[in-house]
Amino acid sequence: MAVYKIVVAEDEILRKKAKQVPSIENNIYKLLDNMKDTMYEYNGVGLAAPQIGISKRVIIVDVGKGLIELINPKVESVQGSDTQTEGCLSVPGVLGDVHRPLEVQVSGLNRKGEEVSYNATGLFARALQHEIDHLNGILFIDKSINLRKEK
Ligand code: NI
Repeated sequence: MAVYKIVVAEDEILRKKAKQVPSIENNIYKLLDNMKDTMYEYNGVGLAAPQIGISKRVIIVDVGKGLIELINPKVESVQGSDTQTEGCLSVPGVLGDVHRPLEVQVSGLNRKGEEVSYNATGLFARALQHEIDHLNGILFIDKSINLRKEK
């Protein structure tokens, strides 16, 4: 078990475009396991590798239906729109409403290097989009229409 410290906003790694993972090697298992331990420890529903200081295109999401691991995730298509409140482990104590597509199709690789694809809606779709934004140096506070302190 390895719980990492979460990198918080203003750290420049959160603003970098994370690097594509060129091939699936053993160090990816370790990274994914460390991300999982860290996300669950802090009760997150998603985590992107830059949030533990690793600038690689790797995300994990668990919105209560099991853990999804995605390497080099790519948004294939989006549909609809929705506005919901978001927060982020890297922006502690802050909430804000964010407009996003309601549904999203995302493809990528799993930890075995197999191509996988998810058709997501609702919170699952939102979490995937939020985490993929992290890989592009984007935080939810950039998109929120009404940032506020968490009560
Ligand atoms: Ni976040």
